[in-house]
Amino acid sequence: MRWPTGVLLLTTAAFCWPGEPAGVENAERARVNYMLNCQGCHGPDGAGTADGVVPVMKDFVGKFLSVENGREFLVRVPGSANAALSDEALAEVLNWMLAEVSPGEIPDDFRPYSSDEVKRLRSVPLQDVIVERSRLIALMDASEKP
Ligand code: HEC
Repeated sequence: MRWPTGVLLLTTAAFCWPGEPAGVENAERARVNYMLNCQGCHGPDGAGTADGVVPVMKDFVGKFLSVENGREFLVRVPGSANAALSDEALAEVLNWMLAEVSPGEIPDDFRPYSSDEVKRLRSVPLQDVIVERSRLIALMDASEKP
């Protein structure tokens, strides 16, 4: 039997579909974990809250990966570190979330978070989140100046 061309094209497209983002074994599981553990504050697309209490992650959060200690910060903020998620699940959510809400800001040399790294980082609480956040954003601003 000859298959209609449309079916063949669709099948090929499905096989060529890009896989899960790096460090994400199951994007659907990551999405559900994000919905249950993060979305209540951060919103479905990382927009945060209008009053700025929960900061905008959309098209932004990936920038932390380019400044020293920024990579650590994303795991050590209370929302990440204290989430009721295993180290493995938190690593997956972070990798998924970065690819989902801020793909354009992820540096080319980004290595996805591993569960070992997440375990190590989340065990050291941040002393002062607000101060560390401002410090990192000042570093970002300085590196973006021409
Ligand atoms: C109760 C509200 C709340 C929940 C739930 C929450 N967060 Fe957050 N998140 C915040 C706030 C507020 C900040 C700003 C830093 C701070 O004050 O902790 C933040 C900051 C962050 C940041 C750093 C971004 C930045 O610009 O500072 C990351 C990454 C992050 N959260 C990830 C997560 C992940 C992943 C989850 C779910 C596992 C999560 N958060 C759950 C409130 C929350």
